[in-house]
Amino acid sequence: MGAQIIDGKAIAAGIRDTIQTAVTERRSNNQSIPGLAVVLVGDNSASAVYVRMKRRDCEQVGFAAQDHDLPTSTTQDELTALVDELNADPAIHGILVQLPLPDHIDAQAIIERIDPAKDVDGFHPQNVGRLVLRLPGLRSCTPHGVMTLLEHTDTDLVGAHAVVIGQSNIVGRPMALELLNARCTVTVCHSRTRDLQDQVAQADVLVAAVGRTAFIPGDWIKPGATVIDVGINRQEDGRLVGDVEADGAMQRAGWMTPVPGGVGPLTRATLLENTLEATRQLDG
Ligand code: GUN
Repeated sequence: MGAQIIDGKAIAAGIRDTIQTAVTERRSNNQSIPGLAVVLVGDNSASAVYVRMKRRDCEQVGFAAQDHDLPTSTTQDELTALVDELNADPAIHGILVQLPLPDHIDAQAIIERIDPAKDVDGFHPQNVGRLVLRLPGLRSCTPHGVMTLLEHTDTDLVGAHAVVIGQSNIVGRPMALELLNARCTVTVCHSRTRDLQDQVAQADVLVAAVGRTAFIPGDWIKPGATVIDVGINRQEDGRLVGDVEADGAMQRAGWMTPVPGGVGPLTRATLLENTLEATRQLDG
């Protein structure tokens, strides 16, 4: 028996269609068009690829994307001034500052400078706090997107044991909260976890967000589990692979995301959803 594939590409395409329709309706009702500012600082090549794809998505659904490509030499004050300007701009409903930022910039201070109402990444402490408290707010794109992927499976989350591997601010921590809010029993594992294999073996839902090739051997997976692989690791031959050893895991899992084409497309589609939501909250 092989796992069923969770087709992130197809699910994301459906979300983009829905958003495009909503934008067309807003246009014909003379409502504001969602405006997303995408800020890239420096020349990180992976970031440049992600940002290019995010901008292309905006164009496809009819958003107004505002591009800000700044040199590595950009100072904290200059970036702060740009964020202030975008916060005050009524045509901008979402602000995305691509991470990582160059070392000389205090990224947390920049995140906290963004108006929480325009924080479409869901990284501002106010939005993270709202997630903790189960209050409505802008939710971090990758974990929110994973919840959408799970809705496209027959996984019963209530009471399921979900194991998250990774404790980053962008994925692991908000992921654990999302799953807890969906009434899973949640275990968070990280680099100091003892007996990782035992934890993985308990997982009805496994979310791997470590960033290391084949970190989880396929034969650790609980038979029938739903496996969400957030890892995107480039091999020397240029191929992209996840954190879970895919061939082995496919033999045991019930549902599994491919890499690429699983979580990545949902992260981007969720950014569009968040931007539309921010627009509705700000302008109606
Ligand atoms: N870097 C890696 N993932 C993300 C993301 O979701 N948002 C931003 N702003 N930067 C990232």
